[in-house]
Amino acid sequence: MEQREKFSSRIGFILISVGCAVGLGNVWRFPYIAGAYGGAAFVLIYLIFLAILGLPIMVMELAVGRSSQRSAARSFHVLEPKGSKWHLTGYLAVAGNYLLMMFYTTVGGWMLIYIKKMALGEFSGKTAEEAGTIFNAMLASPSSMMGGMLVVVVLGFLVCSVGLQKGVERITKWMMGLLFVILVVLCIRSMTLPGAAEGLAFYLVPDFGKIVECGVGEVIFAAMGQAFFTLSLGIGAMAIFGSYIDKSRRLTGEAVHICVLDTVVAFLAGLIIFPACTAFGVSPGQGPGLVFVTLPNIFNQMSAGRLWGVLFFIFMSFAALSTIIAVFENIISFSADLWHWGRKKASWINGVAVAVLSIPCALGFNILSWAQPLGAGSTIQDLEDFIISNNLLPLGSLLYLLFCTSRRGWGWKKFQAEADEGAGFAFPAWARGYVTYVLPVIVLIILVMGYWQKFA
Ligand code: ALA
Repeated sequence: MEQREKFSSRIGFILISVGCAVGLGNVWRFPYIAGAYGGAAFVLIYLIFLAILGLPIMVMELAVGRSSQRSAARSFHVLEPKGSKWHLTGYLAVAGNYLLMMFYTTVGGWMLIYIKKMALGEFSGKTAEEAGTIFNAMLASPSSMMGGMLVVVVLGFLVCSVGLQKGVERITKWMMGLLFVILVVLCIRSMTLPGAAEGLAFYLVPDFGKIVECGVGEVIFAAMGQAFFTLSLGIGAMAIFGSYIDKSRRLTGEAVHICVLDTVVAFLAGLIIFPACTAFGVSPGQGPGLVFVTLPNIFNQMSAGRLWGVLFFIFMSFAALSTIIAVFENIISFSADLWHWGRKKASWINGVAVAVLSIPCALGFNILSWAQPLGAGSTIQDLEDFIISNNLLPLGSLLYLLFCTSRRGWGWKKFQAEADEGAGFAFPAWARGYVTYVLPVIVLIILVMGYWQKFA
C-alpha cells in the first residue's frame, strides 16, 4: 500500500479542519440568518444544535476517515461488512463535494471582486440603493462572474497541486492566522462605533418574542441547517482530514476544538456586522444581500472606510478560500483513491472539471437567468444550494450516524474504539442511546422539514 500523506503537525490538522468549516457559512450566511431570525435568541438555539448535533457527527466523520485511511470515496468500502451497500454513501459524498463547489466558487469570486471594488473606491459616496445597483450589475455581467469564479478555481487547485504539507497546510495556516487578526481588528473597530450598543444588544441579549414572531419551527429548522452547513457535515469533507492524522489524540477533543474555533469566527463576524448596522441605522434583517449591499454603505460612512472595507473583504475571501482549498483537497483525494491518479494530474483534471461544473451557477445570474428551477425569481445557485444544504448534508449525516451506530454498519464498538484512541476527551459512553436513537430522528426531521419549507 502506498504511504498516505500526513499533516506535519496537530495545529496544521486543526487549522485546516477549521478552514474547511470556516467559510461563507460563518461570515455571510450566519450573520444574515441570525439577523433575519431575531438575533440573540436564534444564536442560542444555533449553539445548542452545534453541540448536540454537529459535534457528534463530526467525531463520526473523523473516526471513519482515520480508521479507513481513505477519503469518503473509499472509506466505506474499507470499513463496511462484506456484501453490504454502505459504500454507496461514498458516491453521495463525492457528488456533495463537487456540488458544494459548483456554487461556492462563484460566491468566492464575488468576494475577490469586492476587494477590488472597495480598493478602487467604487462605493464612495454611494447610497445603499446604489450599492445594490453595483451588486446587481456584477451579477448581470457574465465576464465578471466567470472571471471571479475562474480565479478562485485556479488559485485553489494551484495550492492543492503543490502538496498537502507544502501547499494546503502551509497556505491555510497563514490564511487562518491572518483571518483571526483581521477579524479581531474589525471587531474592535465596529464595537467602538458610536451607536454600537444597540446592535450588540440585538445580537447578545435574547428576546424569545422575536422567535415567536418569526415562527418557532422555522427558526429551529434554520438553526439546525446552519449547524450542518457551517461544519461541512455529511459529505465526508471533514472525514478526509481524519485520514491524514495519527492516533495520538482522541477525536472528541479534536472535534471540540474545531467546533469552538468555527463558532468563534461566526460569532465575531456577527460582532462586526450588527454593531455597524445599528451605528449607521441599517436594518440587520436584510437577508443574503447584507454583506454585499449593506456593508459597503456602512464602510462608506466610516472614516478610512475604504481601508476597513478592503480588510473586510480580504477576510471574507480568506474564509471562502480556506473552505474551497479544503474541499478541493477532498476532490483530489477522491481521484487518488478511486483511480490512483497522482496529485498533479488530479489537480489539473479536477480543476478543469470544477471550472466547467461551476459555469451554470456563474451564468445563472445573467445569460442563463431564464432558468428559474425553484420558482419565479430563483436561480441555478438556489437549486444547487437546496440540493446540497437541504438534501445531501442531512442525508449524508444520517448515513454516517447509522453507519457508526448500527450493527449492520461499522457499529458502535468499532466507532468508539477508534474515536477514543489516544489522549484527550473520550466520546461519552452515556451518549450511545442518544446518538443511536434520538439523533437520527432529529436529522430525519430536518430532511423532511427542508422539503416542507421549500414546497409546501
Ligand atoms: N463549512 C463551509 C462554510 O461554512 C461550507 O461555508
